[in-house]
Amino acid sequence: MDIMPAEFSRRRLIALGTAGLALPRNTWAVETSGRSTTLPDKWPDFSFLVVTDTHLGYQNKASAAQQWEKTATELAQAEGDFILHLGDVVDQGQEPQYPIYRKIRDSIGKPVHEIPGNHDPIDLFEKHLEITTDRSFDHGGVRFVLFGNAHRDSHDGFITEEQLIWIGQQCQEATEKNLWLVLCAHVPCHTNKPPDRAWYVKPENGQTRFYEILDQHRGRVLVLFHGHFHNGIRGWDDRSPLNEVLFPSALYNQKRGLMEKNAPGYNLEEFRPGYVAATFSEGSLTLDYWPVGTDEKMSKRLRYPDSV
Ligand SMILES: [Fe+2]
Repeated sequence: MDIMPAEFSRRRLIALGTAGLALPRNTWAVETSGRSTTLPDKWPDFSFLVVTDTHLGYQNKASAAQQWEKTATELAQAEGDFILHLGDVVDQGQEPQYPIYRKIRDSIGKPVHEIPGNHDPIDLFEKHLEITTDRSFDHGGVRFVLFGNAHRDSHDGFITEEQLIWIGQQCQEATEKNLWLVLCAHVPCHTNKPPDRAWYVKPENGQTRFYEILDQHRGRVLVLFHGHFHNGIRGWDDRSPLNEVLFPSALYNQKRGLMEKNAPGYNLEEFRPGYVAATFSEGSLTLDYWPVGTDEKMSKRLRYPDSV
C-alpha cells in the first residue's frame, strides 16, 4: 500500500518534492472491444481539492457550520484550481442551512462544484446553489462528470436510464475531444458488502450498465469519486486502470476496522475530519488527506499503468 506516514509534516513533504517519483511515460493506448483507442498523449498536470459530507445542521447544532468554516479557511489557502464537494451539503435536508453553507462556500475564493447526497433534497440543492445536479466541466484536459445518484429514503445509489444515456454521451464527447474522464457521484458504484456498509448502486439500479459504459471507455476514465461513507479515504483498484475512491467527511469519520476484517480494497489509517488535495502528475494521481487544524497529512498515490 502506498501510504505516507502521518508524521510526515507539510514542510518535509514540500522539501522532498515529487519530481523524483515521476513514472516513465510511453504511449497511452488501450484495446476497447477489439479496436485500439488512442488516449490523450499528455497526462494531466494540475491540483484540485475535494471535500464532502459537511452535513450543516447535524444534530441541530452549529458545530457543523463552525467546522465547515474552519475547513473553508484552509481550502482558501490550499493549492488547487477548484473544489469538488461530493454531497451531503446539509444534514436531513434542512433548508435554512443552505444559505449558511453558501455564504461560507462563497468566501473561499475558488470555484466549488457540488453534487447532492442522500441528505440533500434536489429542489433545495439546485435552488440554493443555483446549479443543476447532472453537469460536467472541462479542466486541464480532463472532463469532470458530476451526477446525482442518491435518494433521500435510501443509502443505496440509483442511476436512471436517462442518466446512463447522458453519461454515455459525456464519455463519447470526451473521446471526441480527446479528454481524460473523472466521474463523481455521492454513493459508490463499487460493490461493498459487510463488514463494509453494503451501500452502493446495486446491479438492478444501474450498476451493470454503468460499468459497461465505463468499459467502452477503458483507460480514459481515470477515477470515480464518491462521499457517503464517512470512513476516511477508502477505495478499490480491482478494475485497474480505473480507480474508485471514497473521500473523508469534513465533519466526522468512523474507523470501522475494515482492513483488520480483510475487507477488499484499502482504507487509510486516518479518520479525523478534513479535506483532500488531489494532484495529477506524470502517470499518477496523488491524494493528500489533510485533517483540518493539523499540519499533518496522509497520502495515497493512485498509479496508472502506461498500457493495459
Ligand atoms: Fe453523509
